[in-house]
Amino acid sequence: MTSFPEGFLWGAATAAHQVEGNNLNNDWWRLEQVAADYGVQASGDALDSYHRYHEDMRLLADRGFTAYRFSLEWSRIEPLPGQFSRAALDHYRRMIDTARELGLEPVVTVHHFTHPVWFDDRGAWLWDGAVDAFMRYAEQACTILGDVHWIITINEPNVLAITHGGQRQVALGNPYPRNALPDQEIGDVLIAAHRVAAPMLRQRTGARVGWSVANQALTATPGNEEKFTEVQYLIEDKYLQVSREDDFVGVQSYTSQPVEADGIVPHPVADDNTLMGWAYRPDALGIAVRHTRDVVGPDVPILVTENGIATDDDERRIAYTTAALEEVAAAIGQGVNVRGYLHWSLLDNFEWGHWAPTFGLVAVNRETFARHPKPSLDWLGEVARRNAV
Ligand code: BGC
Repeated sequence: MTSFPEGFLWGAATAAHQVEGNNLNNDWWRLEQVAADYGVQASGDALDSYHRYHEDMRLLADRGFTAYRFSLEWSRIEPLPGQFSRAALDHYRRMIDTARELGLEPVVTVHHFTHPVWFDDRGAWLWDGAVDAFMRYAEQACTILGDVHWIITINEPNVLAITHGGQRQVALGNPYPRNALPDQEIGDVLIAAHRVAAPMLRQRTGARVGWSVANQALTATPGNEEKFTEVQYLIEDKYLQVSREDDFVGVQSYTSQPVEADGIVPHPVADDNTLMGWAYRPDALGIAVRHTRDVVGPDVPILVTENGIATDDDERRIAYTTAALEEVAAAIGQGVNVRGYLHWSLLDNFEWGHWAPTFGLVAVNRETFARHPKPSLDWLGEVARRNAV
């Protein structure tokens, strides 16, 4: 049995658009309405967590978890430019209070992939008012984040810059780029947005503020070391370097990929690929936390803000997570400053256009919204209680 440091946070994560339902006013909802022909499914009622968050959080609290990560939905808080909804802000404040009452540390993401349609109509992150608009939204968010200790400004800016870059290419009449890298221009705007919002959030709330970066646990193939370094910078290190100025950095890891002369190698088809078609690589988390420490430096604490597996075999989820946690424990043993582990995800949620890849510790009946905990929820709760794996 390997123990984790005292005070280590144990939790699970969700994001607003993936669980709340009826986020009628954001870019993803709009995309879902027009992209059905391309096999994109709709979020619809999702898991109705907008109303059932208390039940969701209790699933964690009852089993001994100590943290819950969730996100604020910008399109609810600012339905029209400059018009802020006090009721929506109060809703998220109630979520924070509920987490605290249940003994869960709220880890709050200000932006998790979605934005209001009015922001989209103006050109989204390439609109010249984008950073100011995000800043105004973040200022309003501060009004309810007063006693929150962990705030993530933007979830996976490096993935957001890939998906928005892809959408931009499609809008320009080009095909969606295969195995694309982040759009550099969008990435730069996200970095600018983080750099203005983070100090403001820190100053007004006293929270530890950072952002969460998607880690691909990239490896070089022989002879392609230079290409590897170039790709790693563009997809990851550019964003990790920003975290040197922050109070913590969120690590999000699922799998690992090699880099060859043409760039990142797509996952080969394999029997043990996950429901996302990704290689089964629980060891990726060890590579990710070490690489993050190497880039960000030893003084910035690391929170694993996402790690998990899309599978319909819950024993496999437990096996994957056990191996991933052993990697974290080994890294901590070697001096990597990891402060917590937030599993992705609490619930089988809306996987951005698809319902089939199930990442949850809890299944949900989407007709009745009944929650059905899987054995992995009890298992990870036990790990949390023992603070050991
Ligand atoms: C995102 C989540 C997503 C998960 C699995 C991360 O990229 O932050 O929203 O569901 O990975 O794909």
